[in-house]
Amino acid sequence: MVRNPKGMRDLLPPETPRWRRLEVALSYAALLYGYAEIRTPILEFAELFRKGLGDESDVALKEMYEFEDKGGDRLALRPEGTAPVARSVIQHHLHEQGLVRLYYLGPMFRREKPQADRYRQFHQFGIELFGVQQPYGEIEVLLLLKRISNLLSLGLKLKLNSLGCSECRPQYMESLRQYVESVLTEDPERERFLRNPLKLLDSKRPDLTEVKRNAPRIHEYLCNDCKEHFNTAISLAEHLGVSLELDHELARGFDYYTRTVFEGFAVEGGAAVVGGGRYDHLVAYYGGPDVPGIGFAIGLERLLGALQEVPLTAVEPRDSYFLVTTGPELFVSAMAFAERLRDKGIAVALDLRQGKIHKQMRLADRLGYQKVLIMGEDEAQRDEVTLRDMVSGEQLRIKQEVLLGE
Ligand code: HAM
Repeated sequence: MVRNPKGMRDLLPPETPRWRRLEVALSYAALLYGYAEIRTPILEFAELFRKGLGDESDVALKEMYEFEDKGGDRLALRPEGTAPVARSVIQHHLHEQGLVRLYYLGPMFRREKPQADRYRQFHQFGIELFGVQQPYGEIEVLLLLKRISNLLSLGLKLKLNSLGCSECRPQYMESLRQYVESVLTEDPERERFLRNPLKLLDSKRPDLTEVKRNAPRIHEYLCNDCKEHFNTAISLAEHLGVSLELDHELARGFDYYTRTVFEGFAVEGGAAVVGGGRYDHLVAYYGGPDVPGIGFAIGLERLLGALQEVPLTAVEPRDSYFLVTTGPELFVSAMAFAERLRDKGIAVALDLRQGKIHKQMRLADRLGYQKVLIMGEDEAQRDEVTLRDMVSGEQLRIKQEVLLGE
């Protein structure tokens, strides 16, 4: 009798229509924020993942499906999407646009022990945002996650931590290493934890719960820049309606993360449905320019497992704008206004780097936006916006409520 390998599943009707709906809903959410779809190959050079995820990561170390092809190249079935997307951004010079928003959907492969919630072929929906150093990057991806949770009635709980940067993380790692050295004298994983002490925090072993709880905390070691970045991200995200919980033990499994990391849960105590974070040095590490990144990926099997019904959403937004503001004070109001437009099925993208207005305009132009909304002091005070047609150059003032169709 024939059968497929362990951990690989056939998706059959009546499950497949749920998958299609889910893919439409997730793509729709991403499109509302100006993300465009990218499709990278399933095979990459194995080295890409070893470098990006880290030689010591479980995924690169034990779980990758890798092989030598007939031409002698060492290839791997992709275990995740961030490394291939970063590779593609560099290869095709997408970063030259200044700010890049991409989303992807597709199968990933990890040779994990098959169990509930863990497959060897599974599927991810992910988004990656390149070019934003400011905490507005965090805010946008968290808002998008919140939107997905609302669209699907998921009740996602988000947990967040900061891993610091190359300035402050080494001191924390050293103190964690000393802690491992003194506490885990007989532990079978002692050597691994000594090599990379963050693996202790990342460990799911129940016997280490207490050890983890008493471990030194990164927040006592964060440098001022990291502290400020993290606090701004949290307070603005909360201000815009995202609920978050801080989790000092959240470390994530890959080496590419810097600063903010987060996970999302649909069931308390269950496996994470979403994982993500900032990776400010990955692009440079791959030989590209110094372009920061942030993103997340959702496991579709886990997501479907948490859903009763998958709602039918629109396939595409019904309109699309680029929103420009004239000063930092207005930026958060602009983000809130963008959220209201998205609620109405209108896609809105912003230049999260908060540059001068002409720079924001230039980005809108480069990205091919035909309609730009300008929200300056005066417009904001009158609950209006200026609508600019990028082709004709014509501008007109309109009430925000008119645009919202209220
Ligand atoms: P990750 O946490 O390894 O992150 O995976 C993200 C999600 O994929 C998990 O939360 C889970 O839902 C799903 N997943 C992972 N492994 C399996 C498995 N064996 N079976 C079923 N589902 C699984 C990443 O992959 C990063 N690339 C996320 C990211 C994007 N970070 C920044 N940008």
